[in-house]
Amino acid sequence: MKTAIVYYTQSGTNATLAEILAEKESATMIKLAIENEKKPCMARDAFAAIRGKCAILKNDINSDIAEFDKINLITPKWAGKPATAINTFLRDADLTNKEVALYVTQLDKRLESAEKMLNGMADKVTAQGGKVICKKALLGGNSKKPISKEDLIAQL
Ligand SMILES: Cc1cc2nc3c(=O)[nH]c(=O)nc-3n(C[C@H](O)[C@H](O)[C@H](O)COP(=O)(O)O)c2cc1C
Repeated sequence: MKTAIVYYTQSGTNATLAEILAEKESATMIKLAIENEKKPCMARDAFAAIRGKCAILKNDINSDIAEFDKINLITPKWAGKPATAINTFLRDADLTNKEVALYVTQLDKRLESAEKMLNGMADKVTAQGGKVICKKALLGGNSKKPISKEDLIAQL
């Protein structure tokens, strides 16, 4: 089975998680990159996520993922929602016959609070033809409060 790790990161947590999963599953990392990405702004980014906004990506998503049978999709939680780059992926990716494992990282220690968000992402994966095989929330970090690779590994 050929596996890809598709992820978006603003402050690095999800890049670390992507590296961990890539090593564990001998997978290829695909970073989602936003066209003309602005400097992070909590209020603007949270508001965009609440509205379900889709970022314009540099990636050609469908050619990036064409060869893979399994996708691990990793998003930060933004105001209880997926990041805007992940919204674009969930809108545009052809996931027909692909297995998809969903991961969210967040600062809220109550990981069960991600259930609604993960279920919403799972519905979109199904609508795009994919099969959800895993939904997992992890405690993440940010530049002020980083989380170590070891702490992420311990949560898997
Ligand atoms: C705009 C914004 C909104 C956020 N909203 C939430 C939230 O609603 N709940 C939460 O637990 N963490 C929230 N966070 C924290 C991130 O989900 C967390 O730090 C994540 O692990 C960051 O991943 P990254 O380092 O790969 O960007 C938010 C962060 C940002 C930048």
